[in-house]
Amino acid sequence: EQIEKGGYDHFMLKEIYEQPSVIKDTYRGRLNANKGIVQMAGVEDNLEKFLNAKRIVIVACGTSWHAGLVAEYIFEEFARIPVEVEYASEFRYRNPIINKDDVVIAISQSGETADTMAAIKLAKENGAFVFGVCNVVGSSISRETHAGAYTHAGPEIGVASTKAFTTQITVLTMIALRLGKAKGTLSNTDFHTYLQELEIIPEKVAEALETNDRAKEIAAAFKDAPNCLYLGRGYNFPVALEGALKLKEISYIHAEGYPAAEMKHGPIALIDEHMPVIVIAPKQGHYDKIVSNIQEIKSRSGKIIAVVTKGDTQVRELADYVIEIPETSDALSPLITTIPLQLLSYYIAVMRGCNVDQPRNLAKSVTVE
Ligand code: G6P
Repeated sequence: EQIEKGGYDHFMLKEIYEQPSVIKDTYRGRLNANKGIVQMAGVEDNLEKFLNAKRIVIVACGTSWHAGLVAEYIFEEFARIPVEVEYASEFRYRNPIINKDDVVIAISQSGETADTMAAIKLAKENGAFVFGVCNVVGSSISRETHAGAYTHAGPEIGVASTKAFTTQITVLTMIALRLGKAKGTLSNTDFHTYLQELEIIPEKVAEALETNDRAKEIAAAFKDAPNCLYLGRGYNFPVALEGALKLKEISYIHAEGYPAAEMKHGPIALIDEHMPVIVIAPKQGHYDKIVSNIQEIKSRSGKIIAVVTKGDTQVRELADYVIEIPETSDALSPLITTIPLQLLSYYIAVMRGCNVDQPRNLAKSVTVE
């Protein structure tokens, strides 16, 4: 097992560090920024179905559901197709409206999740075209879907999903770019700019991994916190959810992710000098809005840990701790902002003596209801 961990203390840390290379594996042979190409066989073969879709419905569970939420923002922005993201477990039992011109995308790392599988069967029965985004080759979901694209992240052993999440987002971003180009909803300039940025994203992920020591330092300061709040806006709202999920899964600290602006409708009541608030505040996106959210936290003495773009000065003045990440466009920022949050959860869990790779009560793949 030590050999399999490749010198890392845990599979989770190894998998976090694999992200620059597995994201490359995900887009290899599919993306070529110089040639202006982004293509995946499963999408090309069914391009008409995607282009004629009145709606995309995404079904998934857990971390994969969070990747679906990021995809909602990306698809709507790039391809202007309305998207709904559903928990597979809710979708399957609520007599959902599914039409023949819906495209259903099922996201699953393992390809074995029972609820996601049931949602796929229901969608198929109702005549929808179902596309899978799976990691495990030959898995049940990859066989049950009409077509699909693998993430090629390699085996994910740590129960808390890391590289599966970023590679799912990579695949979904490529699909959105392809559709945006075909539909003309994405300008030529934007299309090429995003292709180029996606191609160099592994380098930025590698740079984001340099926040390792900072994450360790912050973990030491907050490892005994009973609660934690994660806030983000826009593309980084799902990242806030995922950051909170990572923390609860492996450290057993109660954590909630919230859209930053919703804070005033509830969570703000929890903020006092004992409450660590992790705010995702990159320069692109709703920066000014998030700065005012940070001010609201500060005036209630919350402890602010902010993920900011390198060189940021405004948030630095307000935050107790900042974690600097490389600059990215708003749409691709989840691939970068996620990294320090993974590291933070990892170190907090390690410092609390938790079983990082196999947290209590959780399973890597949930094949029963
Ligand atoms: C379990 C795992 C999570 C995962 C979820 C969905 O809860 O512990 O890490 O996100 O299932 O799994 P899937 O394989 O369908 O992505």
